[in-house]
Amino acid sequence: MTEKKITLKFIVYKDSSELSHSENNLFLKAIEARKNAYAPYSKFSVGVSLLLETGKIIQGNNQENAAYPSGMCAERVAIWNAASNYPDLKVEKIFISASSSKKTVDQPVSPCGSCRQTLAEYEINQSHNIEVYFTGETGKIIKTNSIRDLLPLVFDNSLL
Ligand code: THU
Repeated sequence: MTEKKITLKFIVYKDSSELSHSENNLFLKAIEARKNAYAPYSKFSVGVSLLLETGKIIQGNNQENAAYPSGMCAERVAIWNAASNYPDLKVEKIFISASSSKKTVDQPVSPCGSCRQTLAEYEINQSHNIEVYFTGETGKIIKTNSIRDLLPLVFDNSLL
């Protein structure tokens, strides 16, 4: 028997003032996308911006439905938009921003498990890591170097 340990390195920015100019642009695009979220049921809005290798930015936000499970998270709306319109372009970064009309979201909001799995599929296929930034409405921003940092021991198509 062997015991193994997985360690995770991530960066915590105290707020957006610590971001570079290009990171801040992505941050603002995620907030812009968040404002168009359709979240009348949860009141929890999520906005995403994706940076493609050409510099193009793709946005997405959560879309809810009266039949609750029919809604979709912002991350998957954005990555599927990129994959369907720019299938040959690598995704370099994803920025996620969340807010709620019920309370101030002052903690970084990380992507849900299904979004991690979906994003991992594209990261693995493009053989290039996707940097993940996530934040709430105020406060800290967390950055990991890869989707797989958020999904250790990932299930992927090499197992099929
Ligand atoms: N949501 C996202 O858009 N991304 C996540 O990673 C977590 C949750 C959305 C789904 C739903 O519309 C609302 O937030 C509350 O769960």
